[in-house]
Amino acid sequence: MPPGKLKGKSLSLSLKGRVALITGAASGIGRAHAVLMAERGADVIINDVAAEGLEETASLAEPSGGQIELMLYDVSEVSGMTRRIQAAEQKFGKIDILVNNAGVSGQRLYFGNIDEVTYDSMVDINLKGSFFAAQAVVPGMKDRRYGKIINTSSMYALGGNSVAAHYSAAKSAISGLTHSLARELAEWNIMVNAVAPGFVLTGMTSAGRDEAAIVARTERIPLGRMADPMDIAQTVAFLASDEADFITGQVISPNGGERIVGI
Ligand SMILES: NC(=O)c1ccc[n+]([C@@H]2O[C@H](COP(=O)([O-])OP(=O)(O)OC[C@H]3O[C@@H](n4cnc5c(N)ncnc54)[C@H](O)[C@@H]3O)[C@@H](O)[C@H]2O)c1
Repeated sequence: MPPGKLKGKSLSLSLKGRVALITGAASGIGRAHAVLMAERGADVIINDVAAEGLEETASLAEPSGGQIELMLYDVSEVSGMTRRIQAAEQKFGKIDILVNNAGVSGQRLYFGNIDEVTYDSMVDINLKGSFFAAQAVVPGMKDRRYGKIINTSSMYALGGNSVAAHYSAAKSAISGLTHSLARELAEWNIMVNAVAPGFVLTGMTSAGRDEAAIVARTERIPLGRMADPMDIAQTVAFLASDEADFITGQVISPNGGERIVGI
């Protein structure tokens, strides 16, 4: 076997020339994705249902100098979403990177209290939205023989959650989707991975928790701190970069050591 070239590609974390679509980018982790990807040179198309937050994200990403497109739509409404994604692809000429980040949390509900409407909304936003956003971008990615799709699972898909069975189920399904798309799309050089964040302090996790609850929650994390949204964004930007070109079908969990197999 000939040895490898033993030479890294320079600037391989750069996203210059790439176009990234990030869903749920009006706050929290999605905002960090948008700011970091813009900083690394990508043009970013940012989606959310929250117009004001989206404007704020755009103002944070703007200093990087790339193009920014705001797209207000609900990821669980498939036909409207597909039309908007196709229009954005026409405008930018391509979509290289899709970050399926939009999501809603488990609302700390016990199994018996999760009604059908709550269940449907959970699955529609977290799973159906990711599934059909990928379906909308894949034809163009196949034509160009290049694409990176990064889905958002959760640490709670790895070990379950006693007060969010619908959330854990939807996020576990994200792993199945990721594994299957990675296999099906590899021959077109489309890489599909997922990030499964641990505890990140955002609007989603701070709701209903006081200071003492957050301290107690943090004490369960071996690294002794909760994640900053940027911790997750850096993992995702790496997966989106050329440095991760041999990684597909993986679910990577930045969780401060909270889920170490065998701990
Ligand atoms: N915060 C955490 O600890 C944590 C841990 C694991 C996974 N996650 C996942 O990370 C992702 C981001 O979460 P976050 O913590 O930044 O929460 P967040 O609530 O700050 O952000 C979620 C964003 O998604 C948007 N959104 C919700 N429904 C939408 C819809 N139908 N269409 C378009 N946008 C929609 C919201 O408006 C919001 O801006 C989610 O998928 C979440 O499940 C978060």
